[in-house]
Amino acid sequence: MRILGLDVGERWIGVAASDLGEMLASPLTRVRAGDDEASVREIDRIVREQKAGLVVVGMPYSLSGAAGPQARRVQEFVDRLSRSLSVPIETCDERSSTIAAEQMLEEAGIPREKRKEKIDAVAAAFILQSYLDGRRNAGLEPESSNEESGRQDEDRQIVALIGHPVKHSISPRFQQAALDYHGLNITYERWDIPPDGLHSAMDRLRHPSCLGANITIPHKEAVLEMADVIDDQAKLIGAVNTITNREGRLHGFNTDAPGFIRALRHYGGLEPAGKSVLVLGAGGAARAVCFALLGEGVAGLAIANRRVTRAADLAAALWEAGTRGEVKILEWSTMRETDRLAAFDLIVNCTPLGMKYGQAEDESPIPATCIPENALVCDLVYNPMETAFIREARKAGARVLGGLPMLVYQGAVSFGIWTGREAPVELMMETAKASLT
Ligand SMILES: NC(=O)c1ccc[n+]([C@@H]2O[C@H](COP(=O)([O-])OP(=O)(O)OC[C@H]3O[C@@H](n4cnc5c(N)ncnc54)[C@H](OP(=O)(O)O)[C@@H]3O)[C@@H](O)[C@H]2O)c1
Repeated sequence: MRILGLDVGERWIGVAASDLGEMLASPLTRVRAGDDEASVREIDRIVREQKAGLVVVGMPYSLSGAAGPQARRVQEFVDRLSRSLSVPIETCDERSSTIAAEQMLEEAGIPREKRKEKIDAVAAAFILQSYLDGRRNAGLEPESSNEESGRQDEDRQIVALIGHPVKHSISPRFQQAALDYHGLNITYERWDIPPDGLHSAMDRLRHPSCLGANITIPHKEAVLEMADVIDDQAKLIGAVNTITNREGRLHGFNTDAPGFIRALRHYGGLEPAGKSVLVLGAGGAARAVCFALLGEGVAGLAIANRRVTRAADLAAALWEAGTRGEVKILEWSTMRETDRLAAFDLIVNCTPLGMKYGQAEDESPIPATCIPENALVCDLVYNPMETAFIREARKAGARVLGGLPMLVYQGAVSFGIWTGREAPVELMMETAKASLT
């Protein structure tokens, strides 16, 4: 992917293209500063001409202290750019780029008058180099030659995955497969956005070229305050994982809930109405699962969470919402007591226990000896596909359902919201599986 670096000065904005060798040899250009609207228009033109997929802007050190006013001005300009450009924008430490550029030009024997013309763009090149070095040092290659590249054109639209981090997500793979299946000129992009960049990213989503987004950790709750319209179920759950852009207004949905129910029916073979369910965990996923199950008419729901106060908060939210069905709380220690769980038809793990590379990869929330053999055991963790909990459940003779079908179905519901088309679920599932193996 081509990246543009920007050095925002008071009189000029330096612009440099991504290839390191190329940009140091012949920095791209500079744009006059002062009239923000004109500058943004010109940068937008360069982005399109260069088919750039990302813009990186150098930020002076601090919003207070000597660099304060300039840092604030750059931040305002970044916000302005975010509202207008159709590509993501990131900021990085500018690291005295102008001084470094001046030195480099001087050492190269370039006369003072000529140096003035080149310095802004060379400073932009240093900013870009610093950004690329930072990515490499953090073990994150710039997202070159991935599934996003080669898809740039005027009519192309974007669906973004907004989270932090997003590098390991498999959603781009199966969503792109579904978009390509329908022959849609839409690219599903990863936007790695730290919390302080979320407002800008949401503004960027209002651009006509953006169709919408998936929202993932850690932003699912924060976007509730930033979208213009929130669907009732997302409001109840208290989290948004899907955004659609309708003529500049952002509508927020939660597709985890319907995704879970579809997975339960189609892959778990279980009809939830009238069943007795145990939910492990009380975080965002547990909230979606509990509201979804009560909405489907389960007879009773027990919540067990490591921190019991959080389970109590979730139970209170369910009672307040006036959902039907009995809701109670179980102590976490009950999960190790034989015969205490015998009455449950369905047990759902909504904690990260068992997650690949997590702190408790080999841990199961319940040992085989305490899992009822007649239950369906569902683990929301999808990587690995066979978690310690699923292994224990098999040992106990219970039926099992991993987290991948829910991931795919929540994605399929989101796909329908963005495109109005039916998602090719089988293809998405095959692509998702292939991405994990
Ligand atoms: N398959 C899918 O489509 C799908 C969708 C959404 C989420 N998920 C998965 O579901 C899991 C939970 O996600 P989330 O968004 O709900 O996370 P979250 O909001 O951070 O909640 C995490 C929950 O897990 C509990 N927990 C964390 N570490 C634990 C441990 N070592 N032992 C016992 N309990 C522990 C927490 O308990 P405390 O309150 O005591 O901290 C909390 O209840 C993640 O693995 C996520 O990948 C899957």
